[in-house]
Amino acid sequence: MDAERRATDAERERRRFQGEQIRSEVPAKADVIVGLQWGDEGKGRIVDLYAADYDVVARFAGGDNAGHSIVVGERELALRIVPSGVMHPHVELFVGGGAVVNLQTLIGELDALIELGVDVSRVKISDRAHIVFPHHVERDKAGEASRASAIGTTGRGIGPAYVDRVARTGVRFADLLHRDNVAEVSNEQMMRIRRHIVDGVAYIHERLNNGKRVLLEGAQGSLLDVGYGTYPYVTSSHTIAGGACTGLGIGPGAIGRAIGVLKAYCTRVGGGPFPSELHDERGERLRGQGGEYGTVTGRPRRCGWLDAVAAQYAVALNGLTSAVITKLDVLTGFERVGIVTGYRLAGKRVEFADAGAPGLETEIEELSGWSEPIRGYRRIADLPRAARDYVDRVRELLGVPIELVSVGRERTQLAR
Ligand code: GDP
Ligand code: IMO
Ligand code: MG
Repeated sequence: MDAERRATDAERERRRFQGEQIRSEVPAKADVIVGLQWGDEGKGRIVDLYAADYDVVARFAGGDNAGHSIVVGERELALRIVPSGVMHPHVELFVGGGAVVNLQTLIGELDALIELGVDVSRVKISDRAHIVFPHHVERDKAGEASRASAIGTTGRGIGPAYVDRVARTGVRFADLLHRDNVAEVSNEQMMRIRRHIVDGVAYIHERLNNGKRVLLEGAQGSLLDVGYGTYPYVTSSHTIAGGACTGLGIGPGAIGRAIGVLKAYCTRVGGGPFPSELHDERGERLRGQGGEYGTVTGRPRRCGWLDAVAAQYAVALNGLTSAVITKLDVLTGFERVGIVTGYRLAGKRVEFADAGAPGLETEIEELSGWSEPIRGYRRIADLPRAARDYVDRVRELLGVPIELVSVGRERTQLAR
């Protein structure tokens, strides 16, 4: 790897010397992992898995509205702000300028990790990231109460914090470095946090320029993106792969692969359009078998079949190069498994843009289910026929390769 990289460097040097255009020759170094649905696809679990092969894992958006669960053996972690590479001692952890961070949550999370014997000195926060204060939380709750139709936010003050950022009235981590006191930040908090703050742009570019392998961790899901999700029932940040560029201050040329995490069915917490939602006992069964209760709020998640129209839309939004399917084991025991393959309005086929239109109808393709437990399988080719057919059909509908299929919560429970 290093020898290869050195060779590339030498070649680039030669070209630079000869005055050749080398911009497009710069190898892409950062891969990005994003959720393809409405969040809770199992991104944390997948980032934990991939992180083994990277030097840095960087979060680029969102805040403690995220809840990322990782299970390694008997040990279980629920992360909100610290990137999901934390269980690998060699990995550096970075929270980029596109994120909004609640100090109390961050300190609590660091304390919990220290308790587990984790070295948290590797956690760095960009000076460009914004701080979420208690008044943001209050405003979030008041905003929800005053809406005719609630968004169902996580109540963490995320929207108001991004509002302040855009209104240019927010407080950044940089302000903790340059001001002696910031109202609402105690001296104790200041002392705890200061050592983690870095020049976020210099940090990430230094690592990319030094050939470090960087994994960019998305939070929330593509359909919650503030610009391209089911607005206004969205979060307040750019959750799609493009958000990694603005959230870290890197160019699109720095991005290599865009890997999407797709749950084998759909869930959504809070309000908003959900065309494939099941309101019957099948939805309840998905919730029960999948443990679909919010990591952050404990709220029951709405459940439904996989929505291929939505997934294809997410593939396009992210310029996806491959996907990972999670929670396939949850479908075990269903006699028939559905996939939404089309939307219709007044008989005419429509796109995802119309997902919230009144009177929307869905076309559902039904596939045979399987009854065998599949958590023990490690090869996709060995899965029961019907499970394999399901994976094949999803691959076909998405139009990108499936890198692996997760069949359980634990790190090793996956089929390649
Ligand atoms: P994230 O927000 O995308 O990181 O996902 P969450 O952690 O909020 O929710 C995913 C939940 O599903 C967590 O409780 C995971 O432990 C669990 N999970 C992840 N992958 C699998 C899987 O393949 N099978 C099962 N049964 N559970 C999984
Ligand atoms: P992870 O990273 C699922 C949803 C909320 C609400 C909407 C707006 O764990 O996948 P916000 O508090 O962001 O203003 O809420 O977005 N939401 C999530 N749903 N997983 C998440 O994160 C979410 N983060 C926000 O439920 O509908
Ligand atoms: Mg989650």
